[in-house]
Amino acid sequence: MTSLDGKTVLLIVGGGIAAYKTHELIRLLKTRGCSVRVIMTRAAEEFVTPLSLASLSGDKVFTALFSLTDEVEMGHIQLSRAADLLVVAPATADLMAKMAHGLADDLASTALLATDKKVLIAPAMNVRMWRHSATQRNLATLRRDGIAVVGPNDGEMACGEFGPGRMAEPAEIVDAIAGLLKPPTLPLAGKKVLITAGPTREPIDPVRFISNHSSGKQGYAIARAAVALGAETILVSGPTSLPIPPGVQMMPVETATEMLETCEGELPADIAIFAAAVADWRIAQHSDEKIKKGKGNPPTLSLTENPDILKTVATRKADRPQIVVGFAAETGNVIKHAADKLTRKGCDLIVANDVSAESGVFGGDHNKVHLVSSSGIESWPDMSKDDVAHKLMEHLTVMLLSSQEAAR
Ligand code: CTP
Repeated sequence: MTSLDGKTVLLIVGGGIAAYKTHELIRLLKTRGCSVRVIMTRAAEEFVTPLSLASLSGDKVFTALFSLTDEVEMGHIQLSRAADLLVVAPATADLMAKMAHGLADDLASTALLATDKKVLIAPAMNVRMWRHSATQRNLATLRRDGIAVVGPNDGEMACGEFGPGRMAEPAEIVDAIAGLLKPPTLPLAGKKVLITAGPTREPIDPVRFISNHSSGKQGYAIARAAVALGAETILVSGPTSLPIPPGVQMMPVETATEMLETCEGELPADIAIFAAAVADWRIAQHSDEKIKKGKGNPPTLSLTENPDILKTVATRKADRPQIVVGFAAETGNVIKHAADKLTRKGCDLIVANDVSAESGVFGGDHNKVHLVSSSGIESWPDMSKDDVAHKLMEHLTVMLLSSQEAAR
């Protein structure tokens, strides 16, 4: 059962015998944690009293358009916009006709015309009125305008006739409301995205290290974009001064070796993006004690190559992520080096960028990238790192979903 907790419905009660069912509708909505504000048409007051609806909703009921106090306290525009959804129940033939033609001659129809929220109608009327071509024309117009409809049901009517025209039951209306208010399913919901970011730090001794200028900004922006698309997002990051993006699972690391171990521990993943500027080398034998200035020559640092994290993950047999993306930070011959890295590292896509001093990419907020893959080169204009991140995640979502579709 979808929770309606914290939601607000503006219920517009039309003038029909089915108006009595709005008591139960309000009660059900309230038990689901939904606030209900009520507008009644003048005709509705012939069937139910404002007092009964006010006591059930726990709020004042709005009845007339030109009530000065209502206009001051809560104008009709605010009334319709403060709600998450407008529900018209019962939606009489007359109310549907007004809505279809944009009439606004009372509070109910004015609120409906002034709203920028989704509207659900629960029609209720005599079977002949429902079948009348004018009503069916209005219904088609309302559907075209994006208005959602629940019911009417078949059955015996208050007037003794039989057929469609009975208002949907309150529980059915609540289900329709819950369906309209549930958050949209995000495209990467249920998918796991692994991202490396920032520099790595390779210790020389307990107080010194080798590292690089990477700020981590692009990788963190990608993590935010992955969260926004609903992915379970793992951010394996070297030391940066950036705040942890909300919604990510942060795995802080220092060295390339730790970064590799952490990434491998997070597999399987659907998409892996290697945006970290991994130090290519580490000190072969770092000292556990601070190296003191000796009397003789400065110490010679002997380096050994770090594992290539991207290549290791991209060439794994059993649990290679479906999409593996590398970055190529170059200071010249950008496309050529990127194409070379694409094949050498076995990834599906390289995001190549120029990080020469004059580009301002390292530490800056902008990036100009080229996407290099087996299907060609796509060059994007200079954009903010946030925009690059969102566009990249959208691109990767399409790649992932279409490759999963093709595999089916
Ligand atoms: N990368 C990695 N592990 C490494 C080195 C690089 O995972 N030890 C990844 C980076 O995160 C990036 C891609 O490989 O996605 C390319 O990184 P880059 O530094 O441009 O390439 P290198 O392989 O280091 O080659 P070179 O420094 O010679 O350009």
